[in-house]
Amino acid sequence: MPYYAKVLDTDILSRRGRPRALPIYPSTPILTMLVTQHPVLQRFWYPVIPIADLTNGPQSFTLLGKPLVLWLTAAGEPAALRDRCCHRSAKLSMGIVQNGCLRCPYHGWEYDKSGVCTKVPQLDPGAAIPKTYRVESFACKERYGYAWVCLADDPLLPLPEIPEAAAPANRLIPQFYEPWHCSGLRVMENSFDNAHFSIVHAASFGVTEQPQPVRAELVPLDLGLKAYATIPVVNPPLQQQLLNIPDGLTVREVESTWYAPFSRTLKITYPNGLMHLIFTAATPVSDRTSQIVQFCLRNDSEADASAESIIAFDRQVVNEDKRVLESTDYDTPVDLSVEQHMPSDQPGLIMRRQLATLIKAHESVHNDGQDLAKVQG
Ligand code: FES
Ligand SMILES: [Fe+2]
Repeated sequence: MPYYAKVLDTDILSRRGRPRALPIYPSTPILTMLVTQHPVLQRFWYPVIPIADLTNGPQSFTLLGKPLVLWLTAAGEPAALRDRCCHRSAKLSMGIVQNGCLRCPYHGWEYDKSGVCTKVPQLDPGAAIPKTYRVESFACKERYGYAWVCLADDPLLPLPEIPEAAAPANRLIPQFYEPWHCSGLRVMENSFDNAHFSIVHAASFGVTEQPQPVRAELVPLDLGLKAYATIPVVNPPLQQQLLNIPDGLTVREVESTWYAPFSRTLKITYPNGLMHLIFTAATPVSDRTSQIVQFCLRNDSEADASAESIIAFDRQVVNEDKRVLESTDYDTPVDLSVEQHMPSDQPGLIMRRQLATLIKAHESVHNDGQDLAKVQG
């Protein structure tokens, strides 16, 4: 009998030893997005460090609770290893890059991008390096100016494809790279939530007099979601310059895409044809922290609107969201019964259902009874 079945047998007896009504699944835990507890989240690509930051030498990054070191190889490509030397466990991110390999700061062992130790300075010249001298390596790619990492060998989705990034007429502006103390799911559902603009963004683009959200057309994808909406917005003086729209009110045609679990694009098109497409990832660092990685794509030029001013306006908007999101519970429930909902929350409910289904499917395949009991505990 599996361990969890024994737990359930005793669970159905009351303190007096009398049987009580057996719930359908009495020990079902409330599924939350504590990211380190769901191994399936390792099967996605995440942007972790701007490539520009790696030109200064190795950098550390914690992804899903796992300490990594990233650096640029001799070919200029990013590489990722576990941030722990196999000799005496020193942090490799404190080392240097030598001939494209990573040199440990302690005794100078060197590692290539596959984690194989290629040099041990203390050995006699020509002596073989034991095959056990190696550290764990991870898949790593450059895209959109960032190093992306997948901790598993079998990612469930490719990196997000953003066709607008390939169009030569568009410019890419790196915007924000900073830790937020909230769960990635909160950040994702916030960006599809048309009901908070008039409250959270009252000082930037929200129309205070219109608290009722516009309806979005929703198209669920396989591990993702598309949303289309036409959203009236306030157009403050700075935006009037940046958009070249001299009106106090304007309208956004919005096409949003959610890429499970924690990336999205928000493609905004204004009536004059100006495109402002925002990519945001809430890369999971730990159960309580997400690294916000945001850049935007524009089809105008620096002469039309300076990158600095564009960042300044989006900074205001992002800070308005950050303030409330960091006040929310970080252990976001994907169990729909825990929080209350309204009709405009539908995108977030779709995300929660998809993530709950994914987690349950993965854990039912991979857990034996003992592991299930641990999950329930
Ligand atoms: S701890 Fe890395 S070489 Fe000794
Ligand atoms: Fe917002």
